Amino acid sequence: MIDTTAGPAIDPRGVNAGVAPVTYGHGERPPRGDYAQARSDYTCEQDWNSYSAADHDLYRRLYERQAAQLTGLACDEFIDAVGQLGAPAQIPRFDALSDKLRRATGWEVVAVPGLIPEEAFFSLLSRRRFPVTGWIRKPEEFDYVVEPDVFHDLFGHVPLLFNPMFADYMQAYGAGGLKASRLESCEYLARLYWYTVEFGLIDTPAGLRAYGAGILSSPGELRHSVTSHDPQRLGFDIERIMRTRYKIDSYQSTYFVIDSFEQLLDATAPDFKPIYQRVAGLRELAADETVPSDRVF
Ligand SMILES: [Fe+2]
Repeated sequence: MIDTTAGPAIDPRGVNAGVAPVTYGHGERPPRGDYAQARSDYTCEQDWNSYSAADHDLYRRLYERQAAQLTGLACDEFIDAVGQLGAPAQIPRFDALSDKLRRATGWEVVAVPGLIPEEAFFSLLSRRRFPVTGWIRKPEEFDYVVEPDVFHDLFGHVPLLFNPMFADYMQAYGAGGLKASRLESCEYLARLYWYTVEFGLIDTPAGLRAYGAGILSSPGELRHSVTSHDPQRLGFDIERIMRTRYKIDSYQSTYFVIDSFEQLLDATAPDFKPIYQRVAGLRELAADETVPSDRVF
């Protein structure tokens, strides 16, 4: 099992629902987080003083477990920036982190109660504001939590926002998302997020490395994604990705590999509308399928 799933909330009921709670999957689970405190754009105060000593200790243990296995598995850009989160002894204050991020790339982190609707998510990204869940998992969820919590969002996502190229990609993704909402193509864009921002690998002179937040915040999938012989690893291809379904309840069976963050950013430059039209005319691919045009690593 992956330790977290994440990204834009795939919940059609949540779109434009004010500050109605957003639940994971099809709404069988009760929402976590206090949506009554959120503003109309779904942001809220971090309420740092509400974290208990046990919360901070849980964050520290999660951080230290992941940090110990980054070498040789995480990309250098991530390793170089993870220290910007500050000492792992306490859950970071978002305000202080935002001060550093603004100076580096013009991004900031904002607190949200949990999953938020797609349009709210895209809108925040397009304004270089990264939504971070306020609450932390329970101790019994140390190895696995269904919804993204503060550890996944901070440790997994925030370090690469210090990288100028990746930071620009995230903003371009948000702007593309707002357009996709109008074109009813959000599923295609969700797949792009999934296979890049959450579960992306990058080819480096030293070998394959992880840059996706879902991998980097997962105790088991980090090593699995880079070293296991089980999954297939395919060259980045935006149309191929948009055709490909993904798994939310197990390790990925396919990872897509970029050559550089520049390649990722360049891929967002063209207008996606003709891409959506082409992809709509093609057969969907299963998460573990291979097609002849794939560049297999
Ligand atoms: Fe995530």
